[in-house]
Amino acid sequence: MATMSAAVAPNSLLLKSTKQIAAFPTTLSRSFTEAAIVHKRITCSSTTLQNPATATTSTDRVFNFAAGPAILPENVLLKAQSELYNWHGSGMSVMEMSHRGKEFLSIIQKAESDLRTLLNIPENYYVLFLQGGATTQFAAVPLNLCNPDEPVDYIVTGSWGDKAFKEASKYCKPKTIWSGKSEKYVNIPSFGALEQTPEAKYLHICANETIHGVEFKDYPVPTNGNSLLVADMSSNFCSKPVDVSKFGLIYAGAQKNVGPSGVTIVIIRSDLIGNAQPNTPVMLDYKIHAENNSLYNTPPCFGIYMCGLVFEDLIAQGGLSEVEKKNVKKAQILYDTINGSKGFFRCPVETSVRSLMNVPFTLAKPELEAEFVKEAAKEKMVQLKGHRSVGGMRASIYNAMPLAGVEKLVAFMKDFQARHDI
Ligand SMILES: Cc1ncc(COP(=O)(O)O)c(C=O)c1O
Repeated sequence: MATMSAAVAPNSLLLKSTKQIAAFPTTLSRSFTEAAIVHKRITCSSTTLQNPATATTSTDRVFNFAAGPAILPENVLLKAQSELYNWHGSGMSVMEMSHRGKEFLSIIQKAESDLRTLLNIPENYYVLFLQGGATTQFAAVPLNLCNPDEPVDYIVTGSWGDKAFKEASKYCKPKTIWSGKSEKYVNIPSFGALEQTPEAKYLHICANETIHGVEFKDYPVPTNGNSLLVADMSSNFCSKPVDVSKFGLIYAGAQKNVGPSGVTIVIIRSDLIGNAQPNTPVMLDYKIHAENNSLYNTPPCFGIYMCGLVFEDLIAQGGLSEVEKKNVKKAQILYDTINGSKGFFRCPVETSVRSLMNVPFTLAKPELEAEFVKEAAKEKMVQLKGHRSVGGMRASIYNAMPLAGVEKLVAFMKDFQARHDI
C-alpha cells in the first residue's frame, strides 16, 4: 500500500464521473462532496492509494478467446501492475521514463536478449522493436528488400497474406504463386508443386493465418538467388521453436502471444539492411532502426516492457519447446471435440494444417451460432465470434490461454451439443 502526502505526490486528482469515484478504493479526504468533485480538480490534503491488486481477484477475469489484442499471462499482468507506479525503485513508471535513460535501456536490452535466447536467434540477425503493426511491415518489407521493378513471390493462404501482397504491389512487382482463395483458404500448397519466380527477391508467407486458422507446419525453401524467405508470424510468434536461420526476415505485430498492441518485432538478417528504396520513409527503413538499436525515435516503451515480461515468463516456463507442448495439448482437445461431435461442430481447415493458435469452427445449424457465443459469454468465455469476414466462431488459444480455459470451453461445447443436437 503506497501512501502519498501532499508534499510528495500529485496533489490534485481529476475524477470525471461518479463511477470512477466509486471505483477509486482509497481513503480520500472526506472534506469534499460528490457534487464538488465531479468534473473539477480537487485537492486532497492526504491520499492513500490502495494497490488495485487487492481490489480484484482472478475470479473476476474471463477466459478471453480474442484473436488480438489478446489474453496475456496473468502473472505478467500482476507483475506489471506491481511495477506500474514505481519501476524497480526508480520513482517512476515505465510510461514516464526517458527512452534514452539507463532504466529503459536496461529494459529494452533485456527484452532483446531474452528473445534471442527464446528463439535462438543467430548473431547475424538484428532484432528491431518498431511501431505501426504488422500492416506497416506489408510496405516496409518490399521497400527494404527490392526495387520497384523487381519481382517477388507471395503464397497466399488467407486474408493477411492477401493484404501483404496487395500492399507490396505499390512498391515492387509481386506475384501470387499460389492462392487458397477459391477454396476459402482451408489449406496450404505442397511445396514441390510451387512454381517460384527464379529472379524473385523474396518469397513471402503468412506463417499462421489468424482469421482462417491455417498454419504452416513446415516452410518452403525459396529457390530465388538469395534464398530469401519472409514470414509474417504475427499470430504464432513464440508459440513454438522456429529455426530463424531459414528466414531472411520474420515480422510480428506483438498484440497476440508476446505483448500488447503497439510493438512490432522484426528479426532480419544483417546483410539485408541498407538497400532501401530512395523514397522509403525514415520510419520504415530497417537500417535506421538497426543502427540506432530501435531508439531512432521514441519507441513504444511500455509495450516493449510488457513484451520483455512475457519473454521472461516464457523462459521461466522452460522455453518454446515446453510452450509448444502445452499449445499442442490445448489445440488437440479442442479439435478432438470438434471431430468427435458427429458434425455438430465443423472446422473447415484441412487437418494437417490446422492452427495451434486460432481455431475457427461453425455449427451445422448456423442459426444457433449467435446463441452459442452469447451463452459462452455468460459463462465468462468471451470473444468467440468468428471474424466478420468469415462468420462462425473462432477460439484463439494463444500461449497465455490456460489449459483450464480450453477445458471449460470443450465442456461447454459438449453441453451445448447435448442440449441442441436433437
Ligand atoms: C497474421 C496477421 N498479420 C497481420 C496483421 C495485422 O496486424 P496489425 O494490426 O498489427 O497491423 C494481423 C492482425 O491481426 C495478423 O493476424
